[in-house]
Amino acid sequence: MTNVEQIREALKRVKYPGFSRDIVSFGLVKGVQVEGDAVNVRIEIATKDAKVPQQVFQDVHAVLDGMEGVGSVKVDIEVKDAPEAAGTGKSSIPGVKRIIAIASGKGGVGKSTVASNIAVALAARGLKVGLCDCDLYGPSVAQMFGTTERPDANEHDEIIPIVAHGIKLMSMGFLLEDKSPVIVRGPMATRYTQQFLRQVAWGELDVLVLDLPPGTGDIQLTIVQTVAVDGAVIVTTPQEVALIDARKAVAMFAKVNVPILGLIENMAWFECDAGKRYYLFGEEGGVREAEDMNVPLLAQIPIDIPTGRGGEKGIPVALTDPQKNKVSAAFHAMVAGLNV
Ligand SMILES: Nc1ncnc2c1ncn2[C@@H]1O[C@H](COP(=O)(O)OP(=O)(O)OP(=O)(O)O)[C@@H](O)[C@H]1O
Ligand SMILES: [Mg+2]
Repeated sequence: MTNVEQIREALKRVKYPGFSRDIVSFGLVKGVQVEGDAVNVRIEIATKDAKVPQQVFQDVHAVLDGMEGVGSVKVDIEVKDAPEAAGTGKSSIPGVKRIIAIASGKGGVGKSTVASNIAVALAARGLKVGLCDCDLYGPSVAQMFGTTERPDANEHDEIIPIVAHGIKLMSMGFLLEDKSPVIVRGPMATRYTQQFLRQVAWGELDVLVLDLPPGTGDIQLTIVQTVAVDGAVIVTTPQEVALIDARKAVAMFAKVNVPILGLIENMAWFECDAGKRYYLFGEEGGVREAEDMNVPLLAQIPIDIPTGRGGEKGIPVALTDPQKNKVSAAFHAMVAGLNV
């Protein structure tokens, strides 16, 4: 005898072909039924590559056939058409090896702060890193890196990124004449974003970090598909209002087969000088959510004055000696485990 939980657990050993993530955390397992010793697994995959479902079919059988308490195994795989570019595991920007997106669903939870610090911590590991602020309406990367430089174009009409703290930066903020909001909306905004993403001379990069605008609508989907994102990091605060939107973000990436690298719980607590922790936005909401959604919890980042100030002053906190600041230490430790 076996149960649904045991089967789901076993299915976590099946990796999506070509990725290090498993089919359960990808959200591809849509149903598991167990009746007596008969097991029925329903899987949905969006791909244009016929080898992918074949491989998954074989691997699921390899894991479940012969498992204790399991008699017959039936594996149904429904193949849906994949959107162009997404999920290929390859960056569509020449010279750029990996693209990771920082997303949240809800605004103001700390995406740009996380994106800036991940970029800095990756560069500290000797990688060539770019950071692209994809927020048309509220760009903040220029400020977070303390630069007011304006980029030039090269002879191919591509924009040359600004370099600050060793990171190649590109932001809509660099292109705005003043602080007036961009007034493009709807399909125009989507077109504008695509053009912006394609016309940057990134050169050789190990990792390009995308700071996505808040939300899970057309703009976010366009970005993810325009540049073939390899993985997504979801930022949330422990509050229910943020968690609901984090869930939507996870669902959006699953739909286009972008693996979720994990969840970051930001503003997890505030620790006073005496060392007591105050859970201002609720305790461990992100931890529970990561468990429920079956995605790794990458880090818990407390509310930290140097972290907020660093963002305002243009000096990301991860530039601080990790021995001297816990948030800096958390970002460096997290990036070491990211495997990029
Ligand atoms: N862990 C933290 N400790 C202190 N301040 C923080 C922390 N994380 C973020 N902040 C501050 O909170 C504000 C919002 O953060 P940030 O701009 O990174 O959020 P965002 O999700 O990118 O917002 P938007 O949705 O508008 O793009 C900023 O002023 C930032 O400095
Ligand atoms: Mg932001």
